[in-house]
Parts: sequence; structure tokens; C-alpha cells
Amino acid sequence: MNKVRLALFASGTGSNVMSILDYFKDHQHVEIVFVLTNNPQALVVEKAQAFGVRIDVLSNEIVENGNILSTICEAAAIDYVILAGYLRKIPADFIHNYPQKIINIHPSLLPKFGGKGMYGDNVHKAVLAESEVATGITIHFVNEEFDKGELIAQFSCALAADETLATLKEKIHALEQLNFPKVIEKTVLN
Ligand code: GRF
Repeated sequence: MNKVRLALFASGTGSNVMSILDYFKDHQHVEIVFVLTNNPQALVVEKAQAFGVRIDVLSNEIVENGNILSTICEAAAIDYVILAGYLRKIPADFIHNYPQKIINIHPSLLPKFGGKGMYGDNVHKAVLAESEVATGITIHFVNEEFDKGELIAQFSCALAADETLATLKEKIHALEQLNFPKVIEKTVLN
């Protein structure tokens, strides 16, 4: 059996990218072919370089071009694209070329705290402002509407009464690192 080939798109610190790279290192059926970022300053760049995986650093202008993204992914025979803290909108024509093949992770229990502007710390701040008792993560396919693609899996965690932005971020990252690689594996080998 040929390995399923994944590309990871990321814009941030890359903790999810690293947990995915570690999980699939030497995997029998899944291979991470490259990491792509729109942010040359992102920590994920040096982490991916240190790991030894191919990393493509592209400008915001380039990543808004669906044809270019499709060409890059097709040239590398990518089967699935994983958005692991990727902060740019995915062009519609790229989504059409990869229907139900682009998987995103969102740091809340969608549909709560989703949609335009709801990314990174904004999500966590909104969760804290609403005094929620629980939050979590959502893994879903990407369609043309922000955070509205088909649900794949959700995992929740309780919020402490004295929860802060820092403790919440840490909690969510731990939940993501524990669950995202396993859900990717199950989905792409389905
Ligand atoms: C994660 O919390 C993810 O859910 C969100 O952005 C964050 C990225 O963190 N989409 P990292 O770059 O993987 O550390």
C-alpha cells in the first residue's frame, strides 16, 4: 500500500505541527511530505527545519492564490492537507480541488466561538468572557464557510473558576496534541 501523503499548513508556534510530525515519524501508512507557512517569522519554521522536514515559506499573496497552492500540492502528490494553526483563508478553488481532504483544528467546541475573527487568543478570550464551564477543540473538514465544514471529532475540558488566558491555552494545546494526530490517522486511513 502506498503511504497517504499529508501537507501541514501552519502560521504559529507549531506545537500541533510538532506533535503530528512526531506521531507520524516512521509511520507505516502515513507520511508528512512538507510543512507550508505564510509567516517567515513563525516559530514553526525553525522547528520544522530542526526536525528535517521540507518547509515551504510563502508570502501572503502567494497563499491567496488557489492555483499555486494546488500546483504545489499536486506536484507533491498530496492526499490530505492539515491546517494546524494556519491563519490565512483557504482559497475557494483550492477547496474545490481538495473536497473533504482539508482538515482543520479549532480551539473551541464549534459552533460556539467560531467564524470570522475567531482564531488564536480571540477564541480563548471570548470563552473566558462568557464564563463558560467547559470548552474544548473541534476537528473538522474545511468548506468555503469559516468553521462550518463537516464535523470529524470534538473533545472537551472543564474550565476552572480561576482559569486565565495562559492556563486555558495550555489546556487546549494539551488536548490538541493528545488527540489531533490520532484523529488525523483515523480519518486519512478510513
Ligand atoms: C491551536 O490552538 C489551534 O487550535 C489553532 O491555533 C493554535 C495553533 O497553535 N487553530 P500551534 O501553532 O500549533 O502551537
